[in-house]
Amino acid sequence: MSGKIRIGIIGCGTIGSVHADAYAKVKNAELVALCDILPDRLKEKAERHKVALTYTDYRELLANPDIDAVSVCVPNDMHAPIAIDAFKAGKHVMLEKPMTLNAGLGREILKARDASGKQLQMGMVWRQTPQAEVVRDAIANGRLGEVYQIRVKLIRRRGIPGLGGWFTTKARSGGGGLIDIAVHFLDLVMWITGYWNPTRVSARTYAKFGSPMKDYHYVSMWAGPPNYEGTFDVDDYAAGFVRFGEKATLSFEVAWACNAEDESYVELLGDKGGVRVGESRTVLHTEVDNMIADIDLKFQNDRDRFAAEMEKFVDAVQGRGEVAATGEEALVTMSLLDAIYKSSEMNCEVEV
Ligand SMILES: NC(=O)c1ccc[n+]([C@@H]2O[C@H](COP(=O)([O-])OP(=O)(O)OC[C@H]3O[C@@H](n4cnc5c(N)ncnc54)[C@H](O)[C@@H]3O)[C@@H](O)[C@H]2O)c1
Repeated sequence: MSGKIRIGIIGCGTIGSVHADAYAKVKNAELVALCDILPDRLKEKAERHKVALTYTDYRELLANPDIDAVSVCVPNDMHAPIAIDAFKAGKHVMLEKPMTLNAGLGREILKARDASGKQLQMGMVWRQTPQAEVVRDAIANGRLGEVYQIRVKLIRRRGIPGLGGWFTTKARSGGGGLIDIAVHFLDLVMWITGYWNPTRVSARTYAKFGSPMKDYHYVSMWAGPPNYEGTFDVDDYAAGFVRFGEKATLSFEVAWACNAEDESYVELLGDKGGVRVGESRTVLHTEVDNMIADIDLKFQNDRDRFAAEMEKFVDAVQGRGEVAATGEEALVTMSLLDAIYKSSEMNCEVEV
């Protein structure tokens, strides 16, 4: 497929606009259509992103033969139905994280993709950071030796998004902080290490802050304001331990809200070196000439990770490379998330 790929974005909320801005930076992409069920938002976003074609029903957008590919940027419960319909309509799909609500639905998406012969790229944007690429290369080059333990920490002191809205309603989101934010770092560490074989999980999720909603005190709210008439029936904290066969283990802690300082990093421990990828620093813990040393890694800091992600999607559609994150990888992550929730419910270690 040569020339420009004509894109439609379905869901014009926060991330829909981020996709629109990103496509504007991709030479071979042309954003031609937007869809949202909220007419006022649709009108405002069409003006902001200078897009002439608008739809309030995504099926009508998919019926337009001039659209080659869609970005699916809707709440999680609509990921599977819209992605499946998009493949049936012969579109390539850029699907936001998490893949969907559970691994069963994830498999349905892959079936639809395979039947269509079109491309599916998952929205795992952290892979596009220079840090992730450098650490992945360092591992591939043996700099860390054998990685045997991974730590994931993603703590927000008061960071529940859209309290009472779709984010905190299990039927619409599939879960809370775990499925919303841990999904990024779980994908990231499996991509960095190449360990796509989580085998067993022992975990526990908690819901301590979102209910009763009026008792939740916060400084700011992403996707707010709160809707006190709405629902909060998801996790706001989760901790657990994952085995990758006999090769490696992973411990994680993730919170939308808890009584601890904000903190976010992934850490990989190998027998030759370790690395901590944090918010402001990435440090390699190693030895140089028999001296124990820390190396503070520096990176190009002007990369737009979303533009890099969309560029890879468009390249894959045009046959110039692979998608940046595959549906098969997303299915592993989805299965791991399912197992974490199951382990918590059953109060014991479970198979992934
Ligand atoms: N990659 C990232 O860093 C990142 C960041 C934020 C959100 N996300 C993901 O993006 C998705 C959307 O999140 P958001 O924060 O933009 O949510 P949002 O609530 O801001 O936006 C969702 C939009 O979808 C619209 N919508 C709902 N149902 C629809 C339908 N059937 N057809 C068309 N439009 C519909 C809503 O009206 C809303 O405008 C979620 O899956 C979320 O997990 C990813």
